[in-house]
Amino acid sequence: SDEMEGRIQEIKRKLGDELFIPGHHYQRDEVIQFADVTGDSLQLAQVAAANKKAKHIVFCGVHFMAETADMLTDDDQTVYLPDMRAGCSMADMANIYQTEEAWGTLQQIFGDTMIPLTYVNSTASIKAFTGRNGGACVTSSNAKLMVEWALAQKPRLFFLPDQHLGRNTAYDLGIPLEQMAIWNPIKGQLEFEGNVEDVKVILWKGHCSVHEGFTVYNVHEVRKNYPHMKIIVHPECSREVVALSDDSGSTKYICDMIENAPAGSSWAIGTEMNLVKRLIAKYPDKHIISLNENMCPCLTMNRIDLPHLLWALEMIENEEKGNVIQIDADTTKEALLSLERMLAHA
Ligand code: 13P
Ligand code: SF4
Repeated sequence: SDEMEGRIQEIKRKLGDELFIPGHHYQRDEVIQFADVTGDSLQLAQVAAANKKAKHIVFCGVHFMAETADMLTDDDQTVYLPDMRAGCSMADMANIYQTEEAWGTLQQIFGDTMIPLTYVNSTASIKAFTGRNGGACVTSSNAKLMVEWALAQKPRLFFLPDQHLGRNTAYDLGIPLEQMAIWNPIKGQLEFEGNVEDVKVILWKGHCSVHEGFTVYNVHEVRKNYPHMKIIVHPECSREVVALSDDSGSTKYICDMIENAPAGSSWAIGTEMNLVKRLIAKYPDKHIISLNENMCPCLTMNRIDLPHLLWALEMIENEEKGNVIQIDADTTKEALLSLERMLAHA
C-alpha cells in the first residue's frame, strides 16, 4: 500500500489544480489523507459548486453526492466515483416511480396544500421531481431552516426519503408527533390514525440502517456506565434516541462540537464509525466512544478504498473514461431548481 500511496501522490502532483478530491467525513482514513477538502454533504456540495478550476473531480463519498457535484459543476468539469457500487441504502429507499405515485395519491387527499422537501440523500430524478413541484433539497445541517422555508410556502410538507431527519426537524420546530403521517412506499399508502385534516408533515418511510443501529438501550447503557458523558448523535437517528441525547447535528456539527469541547470532557457519538474512530485518534485529550461499540461502518462509504481511488486516478492519467457520473440535461435543469433553492438559504 506504500506503493499505491506513492502513485496517488505522484498523480496528484502531476495533475495539480486540474484534479480535485472532495472527501466525506465517513470515508476511510486511507482515502481521507488524499482529500483536498473534507466535510459534510452541504459543505461538499458548496465546494464543488465553487470550484471552477478542476477538470476532474474524483468524489470520495457516495453516489448521490457525486451526482449532486456533477449537477453543480460546469459542463467541462467531469465527476468520477471511484467505485460505482458506493450507493446509499437510504437513497435507494425512494425511486422516482414510487415518488410520483405517492405525490398523485397525496394530491387526491391534500390537494395543492403540500410542498416537497428532499434530503440530498436521494437520486437526481427525485431532486428533479422536487424542483418541478416547487420544493427544495435539505441536508442535515440546514434542515430546520428549510422546513421553516417550506412551511412558509405551503401548509403541508412532504419530506423524503428519511423519516427520522424529517420527524426530528419538524418536532424541534414545535410540530407535534400527532400531526405527522407516514407514507409507506411499499404499500403505496398513507399511515395515519386520526383526521387527515390535521396532518402537517408527511414522512417517507425510509431510514439509514447505520443510524438506526443506535438504540435507546445504547443511550441507557452510556448513562449508566458514564454518568458525566455527553451524548451527541446524527439526526438520522430515531426520535427516541435524539430525544434522550444531549445534542444532535450533521457530521460537520459533530466535528465542531468535539473540536471545541474542553480537554478532559467525555463524549459518546452516534454516527458512522470511520468518523468516530478518527475523532478518537485526533483528540487523545478527550474521552470519546461510539454510542454503540458494535456498530459496522457504512458499507457503501467503505467501498471507496485505496485501490479504487488509485484506479480512478490512473484512468484519468491515461485519459480513459473511468466511472463518470453524468446526469442528463433535463434532469439536471429541474434538480438544480431544488438544489439552488437550498443553497440560497444555506
Ligand atoms: P452529513 O450531511 O451530516 O455529512 O450526512 C450525510 C450522511 O449520509 C449521513 O449518514
Ligand atoms: Fe447513506 Fe446511511 Fe451511509 Fe449516510 S450512513 S451514506 S445515510 S447508508
